[in-house]
Parts: sequence; structure tokens; C-alpha cells
Amino acid sequence: MHIRVWDALVRALHWTLAAAVATALISGHWPPSHFDAVHHTAGYVAGAAVALRLAWGFAGGRYARLAQFVRSPRAVLAYARAMRAGHEPRYIGHNPLGGWMVLLLWGVAFAVSATGWLYTTDWLWGYEWLSDLHAALAWLIATLVIGHLGGVVMASWRHRENLVGAMFSGRKRVPEAGDID
Ligand code: HEM
Ligand code: HEM
Repeated sequence: MHIRVWDALVRALHWTLAAAVATALISGHWPPSHFDAVHHTAGYVAGAAVALRLAWGFAGGRYARLAQFVRSPRAVLAYARAMRAGHEPRYIGHNPLGGWMVLLLWGVAFAVSATGWLYTTDWLWGYEWLSDLHAALAWLIATLVIGHLGGVVMASWRHRENLVGAMFSGRKRVPEAGDID
């Protein structure tokens, strides 16, 4: 038995963001495409995907909403402790640690996009600190994505559940005893 968790827009925006960030990272490190239309387009798409998803986080359905998956620091700590002890509950939406990781991924993806755009404006073009900041944020998002993939693999393994498949189909196993919906 399965329930629908990730709606079509959540899934579409996730894979759009993933593809756009990956393309921007690769093209950014690939001179002469440094100043290329591919890099700028991918970067803008990433920023737009975050903005849209954030709006959907207020207007969308149950599991798309920020209020559903952004939990208090206390809940995050309790979850981390349970994880260390090897008995963290299964969450139907994002788990408490995952929820904050989502905010971090959005925030940094948007910040890389915004600094990239600012660097192309007459106002801030040529300032080295901005270019350095853009590069540092790009490294940060790359690091976070590696952490994100590690979290997905770990949660999939611990709860015997294909979370990657769920990000494509939208469906997950129905809540069982002990799960948190
Ligand atoms: C640049 C690459 C990526 C970025 C920036 C990224 C970002 C995100 C974000 C922001 C979410 C939250 C989704 C939402 O609620 O709208 C998410 C969830 C998720 N992502 Fe990614 N992602 C990336 C790549 C990937 C890849 C390559 C995979 C799979 C191999 C993946 C698997 C997942 C899964 C399974 C979830 C749901 C996690 C859960 O069940 O709580 N992501 N990702
Ligand atoms: C998710 C979004 C983005 C990512 C991950 C990203 C990543 C990168 C990376 C890795 C570099 C190379 C940094 C280095 O020199 O080591 C770079 C450079 C650059 N990016 Fe982006 N970028 C993004 C968005 C954008 C956007 C939206 C624009 C402009 C419209 C942009 C404009 C530039 C420019 C002009 C450079 C060259 C800066 C210089 O050489 O000083 N980027 N970006």
C-alpha cells in the first residue's frame, strides 16, 4: 500500500534544480564556457526553481509545505540522538534533519545564483570579492549536495525504502506503527 507524498510540482522542481545546479557547477569550471550562456541560463533556472518551490512551500499540499517539515531545533536534536542510537523513526515527509538541509540547499543555491547575476551587472561587475564569494558559495553548494546524497542513501538504507524512486513516482509506503506522518 502506498500514499502520494511528493506532488508533481515538487518532483519537477527538484529534478530541475538538481540538473541546473549540476550544469552550473560543471560549466563554471569549464573555461571558456565560464562566461557562457549555458552557465548563466543554468544559474538563472536554479534561482527560479528555488523561488517557485519556496512559494509552493506556502501554497502547496501537505508534504510540500514548509510548516510540515521544518521542525524545532529540539526536534532536530532528538532526531539526531535517536539516529546515533540507531532507532530514529521513519518520517513520511522530510525528516527533521532533512528539513533543515532542504532550507540550506535552497538558501545556498539561491545565493550562488544571485551573486552570479550581480556580478554581471554594471553596478558590481569586476569586483573581485563578489567573484570570490560566488566561487565560495559554489563550493558550498557542491559540498551540501554530497551531504544531501549521503543523507538520502542512509535514510533509504535504514528504513528499507527507495527514496530516490519516491522522488520520481511521488509515492511512499503507507505509515506503519512508529512512523511519523
Ligand atoms: C545538485 C543536485 C541536487 C540538489 C540541489 C538537490 C536538492 C534537494 C532539495 C532542495 C530537496 C527537497 C525537495 C522538496 O521538498 O522540494 C531534495 C530532496 C530529495 N532529493 Fe535532492 N538534490 C539534488 C540531487 C539529488 C540527486 C542526484 C538525487 C538522487 C540520486 C536526489 C534525491 C533526493 C531525494 C530522494 C529527496 C527526498 C528526500 C526525502 O525523502 O526527504 N537529489 N533535494
Ligand atoms: C546555481 C547557480 C550557479 C552555480 C552553482 C555557479 C557556479 C560557478 C562556478 C563554480 C564558477 C567558477 C568559479 C571559479 O572561478 O572558481 C562560476 C563563475 C561564474 N559565474 Fe556562476 N554559478 C551559478 C550561477 C550563475 C549565474 C546566475 C550567473 C550570471 C548570470 C553566473 C555568472 C558567473 C560568472 C560571470 C562567473 C565568472 C566569475 C569570474 O571569473 O570572476 N553564475 N560560477
